[in-house]
Amino acid sequence: MTSVAADTQNRLQLAPREQMNIVIVGHVDHGKSTLVGRLLADSGSLPDGKLEAVQALCKRQGKLFEYAFLLDALEAERDQGITIDSARCFFKTDERDYIIIDAPGHIEFLKNMISGAARAEAAILLIDANEGVRENSRRHGYVLSMLGIRQVTVAVNKMDLVDYDQAVFDRIEEEYRAFLAGCGLVPQRFVPISARQGDNIAEPSAHMRWYKGPTILESVDLFKKAPPREDKALRVPVQDVYKFNTRGDDRRIVAGRIESGRIKVGDRVVFSPSGKGSTVASVEVFNAPATESMQAPHCVGFTLTEQIFVERGEIASHVDSAPRVSTRFRANLFWLGRKPMQKGKSYKLKLTTKEVGVHIHELLNVIDASELDSSLDKDEVGRHDVADVILETRRPVAFDLTHEFEATGRFVIVDDYDVAGGGIIREVVSDSFEGARADARRRDFEWVGGDVSRDDRAARFGHRAALVLLTGGAGVGKALIARKLERALFDAGRVAYLLDGRNVLLGLDQDIATTMDSGELVRRYAEVAHLFLDAGHLVVSTTNTFALADHGTISTLVAPAPVVLVHIGDDPPHNADLVLPAQTDPEGCVTAIRAMLREQNLVVRPPEPR
Ligand code: GTP
Ligand code: MG
Repeated sequence: MTSVAADTQNRLQLAPREQMNIVIVGHVDHGKSTLVGRLLADSGSLPDGKLEAVQALCKRQGKLFEYAFLLDALEAERDQGITIDSARCFFKTDERDYIIIDAPGHIEFLKNMISGAARAEAAILLIDANEGVRENSRRHGYVLSMLGIRQVTVAVNKMDLVDYDQAVFDRIEEEYRAFLAGCGLVPQRFVPISARQGDNIAEPSAHMRWYKGPTILESVDLFKKAPPREDKALRVPVQDVYKFNTRGDDRRIVAGRIESGRIKVGDRVVFSPSGKGSTVASVEVFNAPATESMQAPHCVGFTLTEQIFVERGEIASHVDSAPRVSTRFRANLFWLGRKPMQKGKSYKLKLTTKEVGVHIHELLNVIDASELDSSLDKDEVGRHDVADVILETRRPVAFDLTHEFEATGRFVIVDDYDVAGGGIIREVVSDSFEGARADARRRDFEWVGGDVSRDDRAARFGHRAALVLLTGGAGVGKALIARKLERALFDAGRVAYLLDGRNVLLGLDQDIATTMDSGELVRRYAEVAHLFLDAGHLVVSTTNTFALADHGTISTLVAPAPVVLVHIGDDPPHNADLVLPAQTDPEGCVTAIRAMLREQNLVVRPPEPR
């Protein structure tokens, strides 16, 4: 038996010290390096004798000592290979360890923040009391707000140059607070300091008795730490799905990195955006014995009790805390591409392990990050612009809001194989398919599968299930192409079926044929298609009966089976997979559609001989 005191002692010894990343930003010469040097010195974080050595060196060289020199001295040591990390400085308080991220310029800082290379949890924004709020001070405030950094302390520096005058401080606070409020940022506090003289850094300043708030060191200790990742809701973006190789074993291992939360045997999990549900049968860790549970930030593999079809890019979570799913979200986007990001053009979005086509649905605001000129009537996002946008993905994606979950709330955008931009997700934008999505989720969650899985069928047929929807105006010849496509696929040994919307009307819809409740007609059609797709078919259909807006509902209800949109004639929708000329060569159209099915890896190889 251990005493309570010994127990506490043990825990204190075992608990690793808490760490926090903070960034210091400010206009040129407002005193960033001096403040960092001061923080290192006054918190007692410098190596023994360092301060004295640098002071002595200055004296020998006949120049005035600057706290900023401490950084150069430390950097010189790092260059000798002591540590490789030159972009960071470290200091500690009784409370925790701090890593200061050096932000040489805000473009570099933005790049690092967006790519996830450097992540600041809080910021100190520096303003020179003598110079007041400068353009850059505004820009930095904006950038912090756009990155979702909500914990900000504003340090009004060089108070010694204004005789420690409270009126100067109050004026700056009032002006800057108003500006930050416009960016949606509420700083935690303003602290009047002199980095050079050491006022209000570690000790309350004798020169500013009128200031009753915390010092800079106290104020960083007041920043709140986000709860540890393992305490948050479960998020495992699926990296891969492996099959057991032994014969007769149809189990699969779902592999991925736990970004947050904990997964354990017996957990009921749901995969988003497909909405498929199952129960965790085992948790496996690479090169280690199987375990009952595993938590963030580790990589795991897990098997499921029911064999469901899940794909790379889905996010596993617990049922009651699933991520959001939509085809639209509002984001802060930062563009680095040489070519501007254009409205109407398609790009590739990468969000955790998911890759999906994306385009700008609405451009709400574009701000030139180097000039901070805001422009409301731009129709593209230029290099180094920051934009407030609503993005639309080709298929539904699962995600979180950045301020709730870091890893599943940020994305990058690829243009011509290059990462050209990135951003953070701020809100879900409803995409009018929410109702259908919830219905499909409920349905899929309870779905009773037989012993033949979708994969078994795909393996036998040599193709996956897909709905090929032919769209186009009246008289473009899509019905003829659809018939010929079904025939050609069938003749090639494929399991293909022409589903004419009219046949659903004639039979299943008899009871509502008079009322013609269009929402219900779409739903029933999609549910019929879903059954054929579940049976592994290539379903060919034309959509005379439905408006274009209904396609989204259909896609939502048949997901994860893909809908392949083939448009015949003019005015193709932006998400068409293939556009073919009207009324020309139906055979040629069929050939083109079949080639595209192969290209999209839907039709893979000849069917298995039997
Ligand atoms: P850049 O890295 O060039 O953007 O500058 P910085 O923000 O790192 O400023 P730095 O710390 O190099 O300080 C710039 C000048 O301001 C130096 O000459 C400092 O000595 C001076 N300085 C910094 N803090 C204070 C202060 O509290 N009072 C006074 N009087 N001067 C200060
Ligand atoms: Mg500096």
